[in-house]
Amino acid sequence: MITRASEQPFTDQLDHYRARVDARLKQCLAAGNDSPQRLRDAMEYSVLGAGKRIRPLLVYATGELFELDEALLDPIAVAVEFVHAYSLVHDDLPSMDDDDLRRGRPTTHRAFDEATAILAGDALQALAFDVVSADQQLGKHPEAQIRIVARLARAIGRSGMAGGQALDIGAEGAAVDEDTLEDIHRRKTGELIRASIMMPSELTKVSAEKLERLDAFGRDIGLVFQIRDDLLEVEHDTATLGKSAGSDRQNEKSTYPFLLGTQGAQKRASELYDRAMANLGSLGHHSAGLRWVSDYIVSRSN
Ligand code: IPE
Ligand code: IPE
Ligand code: MG
Ligand code: MG
Repeated sequence: MITRASEQPFTDQLDHYRARVDARLKQCLAAGNDSPQRLRDAMEYSVLGAGKRIRPLLVYATGELFELDEALLDPIAVAVEFVHAYSLVHDDLPSMDDDDLRRGRPTTHRAFDEATAILAGDALQALAFDVVSADQQLGKHPEAQIRIVARLARAIGRSGMAGGQALDIGAEGAAVDEDTLEDIHRRKTGELIRASIMMPSELTKVSAEKLERLDAFGRDIGLVFQIRDDLLEVEHDTATLGKSAGSDRQNEKSTYPFLLGTQGAQKRASELYDRAMANLGSLGHHSAGLRWVSDYIVSRSN
């Protein structure tokens, strides 16, 4: 039986989606697991902390837009969260941002050790691709499944997240212009958010024009996410953030508030948000979920 997204407000569905993805994350971490115990523990520690699950929520909200079966969305939601968790573990490493706190507790390399953290990240990335490529429900749509795998691979590879992280590290201590900073942010964070929105679209027939508007929405909201993340770091303290509030300054990172000032960064975020909403507004009746997650992205306090 197909369980379609309901007509209820998205806020009523939030707990359902978060519980749903959390249950599946746990299941996938436990299933067929003959990995060394310490690696397994580090993977669970990295994934099952107090994350907001924004990327899975975007997957389910896009599923609502296209009235897709939730069971088809689950592996995509799990995969984006595994990839995200991996990216955080590696981002926090001493050779990257060198952070000790994540989601209100010690980073994975602090709670375990550096080698275990690197390997947990590697294994989480591999597990993400395992989940989408081996899922039985998705397997009934083999062509879409391949395109979904390709989208995920491209979003996080050399031109996407990994490329963005390389540019971010390379820009430490340097004076970059706004175009360069935008490119870094779009790649390191925006591309995975964009993919979380675009992967479900592979499971439905939709006009090229509508797809382009959805993609434009995804690109803008992905960039807004990272500008907001930069702002949070200067606006809030470590206790609220659950991660170090002084990290960007200490690492001499290029960020929007450092480049444009707090007000300039807010203005840029709100221009992008308005454009994202204009694109979303033309996507039809079932866009309330994506609107809700977008509002959450700009109003969140951690
Ligand atoms: C933080 O992402 C890292 C970035 C990509 C900027 P989130 O704010 O979504 O982190 P969690 O999953 O809720 O911890
Ligand atoms: C994280 O960006 C991007 C990825 C993990 C790919 P940041 O380094 O700016 O995020 P935080 O502040 O550590 O969460
Ligand atoms: Mg970083
Ligand atoms: Mg960081």
